[in-house]
Amino acid sequence: MMKRIGMGLVGPGFVGAHHIDAVRRLGFVDVVAIAASTESSARRKADALGIAKAYGSYEALIDDPDVQVVHNTTPNYLHVPVILAAIARRKHVISDKPLAMSAADARRLLDAANMAGIVHAVTFNYRGNPLVQQAREMIAAGELGPLHFIHGAYLQDWLLEDTDFSWRLEPEKGGESSAVADIGSHWCDLVQHVAGQRIVDVMADLTTVIGTRLKPAASTEAFTRGGAEASEPVAIHSEDLATILVRFEGGAKGCVSVGQVCAGHKNGLWFEMNGRRASVRWLQERQNELWIGRRDTANALLAKDPSLLSPGARAYTHLPGGHQEAWADAFCNVLRDVYGFIAAGRSPGDPKPPAFATFEDGYHAACIVDAVLESHRRGAVWTRVGEVAAAR
Ligand SMILES: NC(=O)c1ccc[n+]([C@@H]2O[C@H](COP(=O)([O-])OP(=O)(O)OC[C@H]3O[C@@H](n4cnc5c(N)ncnc54)[C@H](O)[C@@H]3O)[C@@H](O)[C@H]2O)c1
Repeated sequence: MMKRIGMGLVGPGFVGAHHIDAVRRLGFVDVVAIAASTESSARRKADALGIAKAYGSYEALIDDPDVQVVHNTTPNYLHVPVILAAIARRKHVISDKPLAMSAADARRLLDAANMAGIVHAVTFNYRGNPLVQQAREMIAAGELGPLHFIHGAYLQDWLLEDTDFSWRLEPEKGGESSAVADIGSHWCDLVQHVAGQRIVDVMADLTTVIGTRLKPAASTEAFTRGGAEASEPVAIHSEDLATILVRFEGGAKGCVSVGQVCAGHKNGLWFEMNGRRASVRWLQERQNELWIGRRDTANALLAKDPSLLSPGARAYTHLPGGHQEAWADAFCNVLRDVYGFIAAGRSPGDPKPPAFATFEDGYHAACIVDAVLESHRRGAVWTRVGEVAAAR
């Protein structure tokens, strides 16, 4: 019988509900409490989600002795205070991305977590897709040969209208970067994970397509449509579109387009990797297929069928071939890796299962975002990742 683990979640909004759903599927994790910005909204959400305890402050949730793991799904500006408070009480922390609004802040969180000896994770959830793991294993085994080109995009359309609004667009709540920190960080973590190489240089051109937006009186959840009740016009300075060239430490070159104003793209995350022997391409919106490109034999479309996958990738499947697995299943896979690690009593420095991204990965993603901003500021020039963080 597995020892039960108690979790509490701060920030029960759009993605918070999916953290709760995912841990419930694990079978050995108790959802002890949630904390929202007020006691009444926490109670309302706790009742809707069937959770016993509801707190009006994150401090109260972190103090609860039944909470061993704190999930942070608050808007970005609250990540530092919530995570530092949890670390101070020596609770394990699972934070959503971006870990922090700057590399310097992400570094503080990484250092504090290491000092306290807690387990720390960031939910870069696309790592949990079985065919992402298949691509990663193929590359690690040398099936593609040395990689020379890594490219793709992360495009959405939920911020296309000037009536669409999110705290992500307000620098004091979301950070100086909007689209790149919000979804570009996912793409960067994903391709680095699959390729086994870090991004070391970036050259970025950022654009604010919608320069004025109508901010609604009440806050709205991600992906909800703005409407007639929109009131106050506000000037937007953070990017909703980005074109970025990247260089990888292993010598591969690449590029990524990031945008949240691209009509028709809902959650259009995709990457392609070209090596000297073969290529792979994976699209999040068709995540049960992996395209494999070859020069001298026919290309292939590998289906997410456990019997066709490598043993490592197979561990991330839960249904037979033809039974589609999706976003929530991959999210659950990430939390299974993290909670499996905690349940086994591992030390924070022990080797991690593949889908487990740490604050170290969150820090590196924040360094990329900082370098993208700096590159754009300097007129789209090559900028070394980490240099900006080191200079501050
Ligand atoms: N991994 C993913 O794919 C993914 C998807 C969406 C969002 N996210 C990340 O998750 C975080 C939350 O995003 P979201 O879209 O769910 O936002 P959201 O606005 O829907 O939810 C945030 C929640 O935090 C609550 N909150 C605000 N202030 C609080 C406080 N002081 N104490 C406790 N709770 C408070 C809000 O009431 C709301 O319920 C962000 O960092 C975002 O980048 C990740």
